[in-house]
Amino acid sequence: MSFNLDNIPSQKGKIAIVTGANSGLGKEITIGLAKKDIKVIMACRNQSKAESAKAEVLSQVNSADIEIMLLDLNSLNSVRNFAVAFGEKYDRLDLLIENAGIMIPPLSKTEDGFESQMGVNYFSHFLLANLLYPLLNKTEGARIATTSSLAHERGRIDFDNLNAEKSYSKMGAYGQSKLACLLFAYELKRRLEKAGSNVIAVSSHPGVSKTNLFTNIPKSAKLLMAPLLPIFTHPPKYAALPTLYAALGPDVKSGDYFGPNGFNGLKGKPGKVKSKLHSYDEAVAAKLWEISETLTGGKFIL
Ligand SMILES: NC(=O)c1ccc[n+]([C@@H]2O[C@H](COP(=O)([O-])OP(=O)(O)OC[C@H]3O[C@@H](n4cnc5c(N)ncnc54)[C@H](OP(=O)(O)O)[C@@H]3O)[C@@H](O)[C@H]2O)c1
Repeated sequence: MSFNLDNIPSQKGKIAIVTGANSGLGKEITIGLAKKDIKVIMACRNQSKAESAKAEVLSQVNSADIEIMLLDLNSLNSVRNFAVAFGEKYDRLDLLIENAGIMIPPLSKTEDGFESQMGVNYFSHFLLANLLYPLLNKTEGARIATTSSLAHERGRIDFDNLNAEKSYSKMGAYGQSKLACLLFAYELKRRLEKAGSNVIAVSSHPGVSKTNLFTNIPKSAKLLMAPLLPIFTHPPKYAALPTLYAALGPDVKSGDYFGPNGFNGLKGKPGKVKSKLHSYDEAVAAKLWEISETLTGGKFIL
């Protein structure tokens, strides 16, 4: 089935959380959801950046119902505070869109000692889903949408070096974090089914789109890539569509993965796609899940 946002009816009454909503794809996802009358909580780490993005969203969708809540994925405490604050205010959650991410920064650790890409892209989102699950589970038709990348294809989970304890490869850690997001989505799907929950676990990747994610790419590489960008990438507005499909598509099933359908998945119309075989490895997924529970400080009870 092809996905067209214009064909999705109003979703008034629904509430979504979008992490990293102030920039790139997160901002476009927020605009898409707001167009469908969904109240969007922009979960961002920087109040003033979030305020400017909110103003942009409102300039495009003047009826948008937007609230900013602070969330810094560099800190598990911030995740916990966010979940408590959200739970005190709202008694439903329809869509948890785990979009925020960083790519190839110099080696650094989060407040809790995770390698920063694993911490921000994966571990904090694992905890966020865990803490918000009770609300999602009592909301009919709720979905948890995680964000992966073509980079999962060459990623591998190195249990002996999960947080760059031994060595650090920027791209290796990014690929590992994005593979972890996918392994999590598929493992969540299996566990939700076993628990008899109706929550949908779905994931997507945007292809390639020029956003702030590329800040850490060396200047020389940027110059080399510049002429190729219009050929191999698409604007954030289109790159956000696979996630919007995952969030709003009427034919979405738990375990589905969405991405652009064009050449090598780099750009194109959003559709159901297949991730690489190693992302379906159940033994790796189960081991990662258990380690994630231990490292984020609590069982994920479904
Ligand atoms: N663009 C691509 O080609 C591409 C390809 C594959 C996958 N992706 C994935 O798509 C997602 C969105 O990326 P993007 O391209 O839209 O990049 P972006 O424009 O850099 O947006 C990333 C968002 O994540 C937020 N973020 C980063 N660190 C955070 C933290 N510690 N706490 C809370 N929020 C944090 C950023 O906030 P600040 O503005 O405050 O930094 C920003 O809002 C990422 O998961 C990325 O891995 C993107």
